[in-house]
Amino acid sequence: MTTSFDSKLPHLGASIFTEMSLMASQHQAINLSQGFPEFDTPAYLKNAINEAISEGKNQYCPSSGLPEFLQQIGELVQRCYIKDEARRLDPLKTITVTSGATEALMVAIQTLVRPGDEVIVFDPAYDAYEPGVELAGGRCRHIAMNAPDYAIDWGQVTAVINDKTRAIVINSPHNPTGTLLSSADMKALQRLVLAHDLYVISDEVYEHMTFDGERHESVLAYPELFERAFVVASFGKTFHCTGWKMGYCVAPEGLTDEFRKIHQYATFCTFTPAQFAITEMLKAHPQHIDELSDFYQQKRDVLVAALKPSRFEVLPSKGTYFLLLDYSAVSDMNDVEFSHWLTKEVGVAVIPLSPFYQADVLDEYHQKHKVVRLCFAKNDETLLQAAEILCQL
Ligand SMILES: Cc1ncc(COP(=O)(O)O)c(C=O)c1O
Repeated sequence: MTTSFDSKLPHLGASIFTEMSLMASQHQAINLSQGFPEFDTPAYLKNAINEAISEGKNQYCPSSGLPEFLQQIGELVQRCYIKDEARRLDPLKTITVTSGATEALMVAIQTLVRPGDEVIVFDPAYDAYEPGVELAGGRCRHIAMNAPDYAIDWGQVTAVINDKTRAIVINSPHNPTGTLLSSADMKALQRLVLAHDLYVISDEVYEHMTFDGERHESVLAYPELFERAFVVASFGKTFHCTGWKMGYCVAPEGLTDEFRKIHQYATFCTFTPAQFAITEMLKAHPQHIDELSDFYQQKRDVLVAALKPSRFEVLPSKGTYFLLLDYSAVSDMNDVEFSHWLTKEVGVAVIPLSPFYQADVLDEYHQKHKVVRLCFAKNDETLLQAAEILCQL
């Protein structure tokens, strides 16, 4: 922009996902960069949304979501995470349907963060958190997690907490590393949140994709933690329909009331036909969700096996549809240069990890770490084709 417009987010440009996907299409590279499925949403769901539209279910619905949809989401949450029969969330008062997890994250951040507040985020961090915090007048305190285990050092978190700290953002299963928070992590988080009167924004969009028998630790399973939390989920990930932008936020009643005040002016309500369609899908095909981990584990295994003869070191992926590769044995380039080269010259598009870190630690990061992210939500042929090329390096 050539005018003197005073930008609220002056340092932001196109995201690394946009950049790498554009480069992939310009160079006709196999696109393992942006995280969306190559396969279609289930036929049942496509029919259901067509029906909803044909039947004229095309007008505004209640701002918080269709009551029947909220009930179905409530059942899902209850079945997956709330073992204690006596503990029942009222879906009409605690769940809000949002336009993707992205809206839920933005609204949760605007609900919580006041000017001057600090929010703790763990790098590599998904890129949607910091702009929201900045727009609310707050600032992020970044804590780095590093290869190979990308674990949170809770001692470091304790050291960063001060009287401005308002919230901690967690993301498990984690994009981009594919790691999971353990129950010990959740207990450590709960101790800090309760001791310092903090809040949690828990980004759980990959909740139904965990591997090797490991289970997702949801904030919803920890009643005291949930009392101070916004739990964010995405049907785009679960039902291979990322372009529908269908998500939701679960929070205790008082927090939901505040969340809904902002949600109603961010968008009012979320795409009505998709709410009808997903309601039907949840009722008719609950097994889709139960089978999702096996579905993605098989894809991970295809890719990992095909990369075995390569010079890349494959880091463990315990959840999500992402896999990290350490390319130290292949190249000395930094990860951004390497990803550009791989896309333009070799024909496989990947995502560098450094853009997920705080900008002022990048020089040090580049000296120490050579890691890129691959998305394996692709057909097996695509994965095998990409691996064959990578094995030649
Ligand atoms: C960690 C994480 N959170 C949130 C989102 C956004 O989800 P949605 O497409 O439902 O807005 C994504 C999408 O890639 C993600 O990876």
